[in-house]
Amino acid sequence: KFSTCLVTLTTAWGTAAQNPHLEEGKWKAPGANDFRGPCPMMNTLANHGYIPRDGRNITRPNIISGLAAGLNFKEPLASLMFDMAIVANPEPNATYFTLDHLNQHNVLEHDASLSRTDAYFGSNHIFNATIYEKSKAYWTEPTITAQMLANSKLARQVESRAFNPTYRFTADTENFSLGEIAAPIIAFGDMALGEVNRTLVDYFFVNERLPAELGWHKKDVAIGIEDILKVSDIIKAATSLITGPDQSNPGNKRDLHAGMH
Ligand code: HEM
Ligand code: MG
Repeated sequence: KFSTCLVTLTTAWGTAAQNPHLEEGKWKAPGANDFRGPCPMMNTLANHGYIPRDGRNITRPNIISGLAAGLNFKEPLASLMFDMAIVANPEPNATYFTLDHLNQHNVLEHDASLSRTDAYFGSNHIFNATIYEKSKAYWTEPTITAQMLANSKLARQVESRAFNPTYRFTADTENFSLGEIAAPIIAFGDMALGEVNRTLVDYFFVNERLPAELGWHKKDVAIGIEDILKVSDIIKAATSLITGPDQSNPGNKRDLHAGMH
């Protein structure tokens, strides 16, 4: 009986090795020849094999199936994201992009990222622990609010504008950026409250891995374009530095005034 089990197991392993589809979902660190880029989620989905592990030839069907399998995104949303991404491939009428294409500065990649340095200072696509720690400093509680995410975005922009003579951040960049800042809430958090668990977000950024081993699973209800717009709007509202007259810091659960007496 034991030997039958062993045969079954060995056969299963053999099949998995031959058929890459059976390995979909399993996390593997990228190899030396695999392309990775400035998007922690594209990198993550490639590390899990939900999109091509080598980061090459990423087609519309790849994005649709990958975002569904990894995050339960609806097809129209995934298809829209592909349309927005395809400009990264410089070839006319391209039908695919690579994760390396995403690295071109000021095409989709932009200054003041949360976890990468500006192209002016160094690699605009490799995870940068120093930069990331600066952003993370604004996630001051175990539950990250929209305002904390907005604070980290604003801080990165002020730092870039102050010290990067080539700093560029257009209205289009702002729209992309709001989506990116909303992304952790969309993937791992509560979209109605506009909040997300800090441990899950941290695990994701640092490991470029879905935080399944921390108990996270993809949303049961599929995510659509309307969800992205809603959470982006929550972030946008939270980027205003203007407060109301009565509340010193709405959205921040601590009473800053109390600390001054
Ligand atoms: C950043 C592309 C989907 C999360 C970026 C950047 C690019 C990009 C080019 C770099 C912008 C910068 O300079 O910071 C794409 C493409 C996607 C996609 C082509 C799909 C077709 C997603 C999804 C999520 C996500 C589904 C999560 C739900 C993020 C985050 C950042 C980012 C959090 C900001 C990283 C930082 O500021 O350090 N993405 N992305 N992306 N993306 Fe994606
Ligand atoms: Mg960037």
